[in-house]
Amino acid sequence: MTRSRPPPTTVEAPTWWRVGRSYRAPLLVRQFPPEVPFGFLGRILPTSETLELMIEAHRIPSANALDLLHGAKAVAEAELATGGNRGQTAELEVERASAEDLGRAVARRTQELWKVGIRFVVLGPTRPHVEARRTRLSERLSAIGFRSRVPRYEVREALLPPDLSAAEPRPQGYWHTLPTDGLASLFPFGDETLLEPGGTLIGLALSDASPVFVDRWSHASHSWGIFGTTGAGKSFAASLILLRTRWLRPDTSIAILDPLGEYSALVEALGGSVIRVADGVGGRLNPLDPVTTRGDRREKAARVGTMLRALFPSLRDEEAAELDAAVTQLYDRGPDVPTFRDLRDRVVDRTGSSTRLATLLEVFRSGSLRALDGLTTARPTETVVSVDFQGVPDDQLPFHLTYVLDWAYGRLADRTGGKLLLVDEAHLLARHATTEEFLDRVVRHVRHFEAGLLILSQSPEDFLVRPAGRSLLRNLYATAFLRIPEVSAEARAFFGLTGAEAEWLPRARLPRETGYSESLWRVGELHLPLAIVASTPEYEFLGATLGRPRAEEGGSTAAPKRGL
Ligand SMILES: Nc1ncnc2c1ncn2[C@@H]1O[C@H](COP(=O)(O)OP(=O)(O)O)[C@@H](O)[C@H]1O
Ligand SMILES: [Mg+2]
Repeated sequence: MTRSRPPPTTVEAPTWWRVGRSYRAPLLVRQFPPEVPFGFLGRILPTSETLELMIEAHRIPSANALDLLHGAKAVAEAELATGGNRGQTAELEVERASAEDLGRAVARRTQELWKVGIRFVVLGPTRPHVEARRTRLSERLSAIGFRSRVPRYEVREALLPPDLSAAEPRPQGYWHTLPTDGLASLFPFGDETLLEPGGTLIGLALSDASPVFVDRWSHASHSWGIFGTTGAGKSFAASLILLRTRWLRPDTSIAILDPLGEYSALVEALGGSVIRVADGVGGRLNPLDPVTTRGDRREKAARVGTMLRALFPSLRDEEAAELDAAVTQLYDRGPDVPTFRDLRDRVVDRTGSSTRLATLLEVFRSGSLRALDGLTTARPTETVVSVDFQGVPDDQLPFHLTYVLDWAYGRLADRTGGKLLLVDEAHLLARHATTEEFLDRVVRHVRHFEAGLLILSQSPEDFLVRPAGRSLLRNLYATAFLRIPEVSAEARAFFGLTGAEAEWLPRARLPRETGYSESLWRVGELHLPLAIVASTPEYEFLGATLGRPRAEEGGSTAAPKRGL
């Protein structure tokens, strides 16, 4: 004989419910803090207790969203106009500005507004249990800036299941209007990891060591940037990326502009070839050879102007104009492949041999750059090539980097398949407006021939000064920040870093302290704190081949510790 059980008794009290032997105590959110870290719920929810979290989200059509934001901005403005609401001027300013920012984001469709219902329900076998746990949850929420609320005499409305229309009656503190980012931050298992199929491993999440893979070739720009103070691990990180790229796509061509001469041994170990500018090993690159622009002589003339201005920053306007005229003539009427002797002849023809300009060009005839006067003899056929500038005087580095960038750019355009060009110490090219513009142009154009740049520099600030630098930064699909001693308000705003991120970067740990680099990656819209870690064979290979920076860096000579 069977007997059906009676339905569980339900007891309703002002602040909790009992169903059978289970107590249910709801908690609502009265107010959100202005900023929360992604995945914060994963950190405040207990792992050892049962707790129910319900989030329902309804998209607000964008026309309504814009109306809402417009209204919020108008309210803030009206209150500001009347002298603020009891001295809350600063808060109102923030409200107005964020309504404005959000309005723009909604109009651009990078954010949307959501009507979000959120409730926590603490479950437990006794009433004191659930009440104590609810109090602790409320305290944890308030520690990160939330204000919570226990619905009194509204428990039933708080616990109703959602009816999918978002029209059911709910207590105050249940509904919120949040932008997409705010809604995304509520997902309790803050999984920001990226796993792009076919991507390269760039690091392990600092929070839980989950690996992050990014596929450079699947995005509109194939170029990335790595910024960090000397010794932060930029060159090492870039070399790891090169190794891992070649491992996945062995036919990837690689060219490296290596101001400090750190990569030569690595390049040779990969079967590549090295051109050493200071002593001519590996052959000469004739900076005037129009092969780099595939014979486009007018474009070549412009690039020659750029490189010479980097070499002679003190040129007066009339000298610069005279030099431009000589260069233009050289490519209009000169030999197919001009050399510096031809350029100097042009200048002497036009101005005589005693002008300052003619004297400056002596450097190619009898001075420190005379090795550059002649036809190109370096014709590396290897897929990995580096140009080593070690030994070049500091004031000539921007010039050398510019014509080698021109050469490397021509080489990228000429080859099939994926190509990477690493430019280390790129701040040297940000010293002059014209070289910075050239670098920006290269970054913008290389994507058309399946090539990407890896730009390494000490501080992103170097590129924030001029429009060309900012354009360059905007065209990097991924940007990694290693330790940066100071993050300016401008850099923070430009990269959309949170206050916490900007405060963390000066404290990001260095490889000589930990054996790996701590970094913050900006990949598309994501911000990922990652450890840049090499496997043992990678570490041994790079340790044996990647040179240490020459000169000034005293640094520690102790072997870095390994392991997370
Ligand atoms: N991710 C890493 N894991 C282990 N060692 C590293 C790592 N990054 C850098 N190093 C070591 O730290 C030192 C400085 O790194 P480097 O890449 O030359 O810094 P940067 O180019 O930023 O000046 C080098 O000796 C390098 O081998
Ligand atoms: Mg370096």
